[in-house]
Amino acid sequence: MNDDTTSLTADTSELQRRLRNPYGVKWTQFDSEVIPMWIADMDFGVGEAITEALCDAVGGFGLGYSRQSLYDGVIEALVKRYQTKFDTNLDPNLSLLSTDVVQAIYLALSTLSELGEKIVVQSPIYPPFIDAIRDLKREVLYNNLRETEVGFFPDMENLEVLCADQATRVLLLCNPHNPTGRVFTELELNEIAAIAARHHVVVVVDEIHAEIAYAPHRHLPFSKVAAKFGTEYILLTSASKAFNLAGLRCAVANFSSKRLLARYNSLPFHMRGAVSNLGMVGTIAAWNSGDSWLKGVMAQLGSNRTYISEFIAERCAGIGYHQPEGTYLAWLDFGKVTALDDPAERIGEVARVALSHGVTFGPGGTGRARLNFATSSANLQAGLERIAASLPLL
Ligand SMILES: Cc1ncc(COP(=O)(O)O)c(C=O)c1O
Repeated sequence: MNDDTTSLTADTSELQRRLRNPYGVKWTQFDSEVIPMWIADMDFGVGEAITEALCDAVGGFGLGYSRQSLYDGVIEALVKRYQTKFDTNLDPNLSLLSTDVVQAIYLALSTLSELGEKIVVQSPIYPPFIDAIRDLKREVLYNNLRETEVGFFPDMENLEVLCADQATRVLLLCNPHNPTGRVFTELELNEIAAIAARHHVVVVVDEIHAEIAYAPHRHLPFSKVAAKFGTEYILLTSASKAFNLAGLRCAVANFSSKRLLARYNSLPFHMRGAVSNLGMVGTIAAWNSGDSWLKGVMAQLGSNRTYISEFIAERCAGIGYHQPEGTYLAWLDFGKVTALDDPAERIGEVARVALSHGVTFGPGGTGRARLNFATSSANLQAGLERIAASLPLL
């Protein structure tokens, strides 16, 4: 894959061969008749700068134990990225790496709360949020997003009630939000930050989709808002979504204070795990040199997003859909076309399109499915055609 964006739009057999590589799960989990539109990998490979940096590291004997300067380089790249992209200063001395964002969520929850204590999420929500809370034997408090004719909105009154619970320790926030694609506004984030601060609840905010926002929507880092209210936070991110590097496994956590960082670090170093050289090299290349590739990807995602809205309006009016403001995920409501709790299951069988199962996203997920549209125009069109044809059979 190179930086030539025309290659993003053609489903050639060479592209198919690459997508069905022996390493990735997205295109190999199901038989070859199935169009995979489920797990959040993109069908675009990676940018040239990343390929070159990884090849240099492998070819240049760079797979030994890593130097501190490589680790510091990732943090420097993140700080620069947040400064240039989001006009936000992150303190490099309050930042550290983790293997991936989900691992950091587990570490944060286990060090910020005790067994049985409560963690708030805004549901429907990326399923590992729920899994983490349950695996760690904490209690999940769901603050269901309210759906109106124009989209999904946080229920601030209920959030205040849930945060006021004496046993609530953490609000686990996802912004941009997976699966609805909401990019929360400054007003919303202000209110969330104020509520959390009032009740001494730490906000663990997953900003992994931050770079995938469609104008006029713009991602606002939580750290920027939190400073106004004195809200304690741990901000988590990774280059893995915007630059398609999930298998490299490298994420960054940034803390609002030394106290929080020390708590997170209270688990021994080897239990927290380490990041591979290739993860760090790929992340630095993405953040420092990946912009021209990302620009091409955003153009393709933008046109796919428009295509989905038009297709649904013209061909599948029964499907409920709010265009996402960020992410490459379309959250589809099949409630008007079927009584099935899990339409993705049936769509997999009938349409031979693999979607993510809405029921795994907690309350608000019943009757829904998530479609990953980070693919070529041809593939997206084929997937939507199949879904449209399957609707009478659901
Ligand atoms: C909101 C969100 N957080 C985290 C992840 C996974 O990140 P990682 O692979 O770094 O754990 C995803 C993957 O889709 C995601 O959508």
